[in-house]
Amino acid sequence: MLKRRIKRIKSIEELLEADKERQYFNNWKTSELKRVVSSDYYSCFLINQDEEVAGYVVLSTVLETAEIIYLYINKRFRTKGLGFLLLKEVFNELNQKNNITEVFLEVSEDNKIAKQLYENLGFRQIGIRRKYYDNKFDAIIYRLDL
Ligand SMILES: CC(C)(COP(=O)(O)OP(=O)(O)OC[C@H]1O[C@@H](n2cnc3c(N)ncnc32)[C@H](O)[C@@H]1OP(=O)(O)O)[C@@H](O)C(=O)NCCC(=O)NCCS
Repeated sequence: MLKRRIKRIKSIEELLEADKERQYFNNWKTSELKRVVSSDYYSCFLINQDEEVAGYVVLSTVLETAEIIYLYINKRFRTKGLGFLLLKEVFNELNQKNNITEVFLEVSEDNKIAKQLYENLGFRQIGIRRKYYDNKFDAIIYRLDL
C-alpha cells in the first residue's frame, strides 16, 4: 500500500529539497528563505509518497486568513489526488492549530487542473483580475471558508 504523509517544512534544506524539480525558490536569498521557513507569517508543508517528496505548498498567514503562495506537485505524481490530500490536511492543521478560518488564492484562468482541484476542495470564485498573467490570462481569485 502507498504510504502518504504530510510534514511541516522547518528548514531551508527541506524547502529546497521539496522544490528540487520546480526550483521556484532557486534565486531567493538565504535571508528570505530563512523567513519563509521560520517566521510566523509563512507555513510550508510537503507531501511524501513512500520515502519520496511528491510536492509542497507554501502559505502566508495573517490573523485568521491564509493565502496559498505556491503549490507544486512533482510531474510524475500528478492527478493522483496528492494535491487534494495535501491541501485538505494542511487546512485541517491550520484551522485546528492556528485558528485559520479562511483561505484565498489566485490562479490563472487557463490552469484547468488547479481550478478543478480548488473547486473539489470547495473553493468559490470571488473575483477576477483581468489579463493579470503575461498580460494575457485572467487571474481568478478563490476563497474557501474552513
Ligand atoms: C495543480 C497541481 C498542484 C494539481 O496537483 P494534483 O496532485 O495533480 O491534483 P489532484 O490529483 O488532487 O486533482 C487534480 C484534479 O484535476 C482533474 N484534471 C486532470 N486533468 C484535467 C484537465 N485537463 N482539465 C480539468 N481537470 C483535470 C483531475 O481529474 C483531478 O480532479 P478529480 O479528483 O475530480 O478527478 C499540479 O498539477 C501542479 O503542481 N501543477 C503545476 C503548478 C501549479 O499549477 N500550481 C498551482 C498554481 S495556483
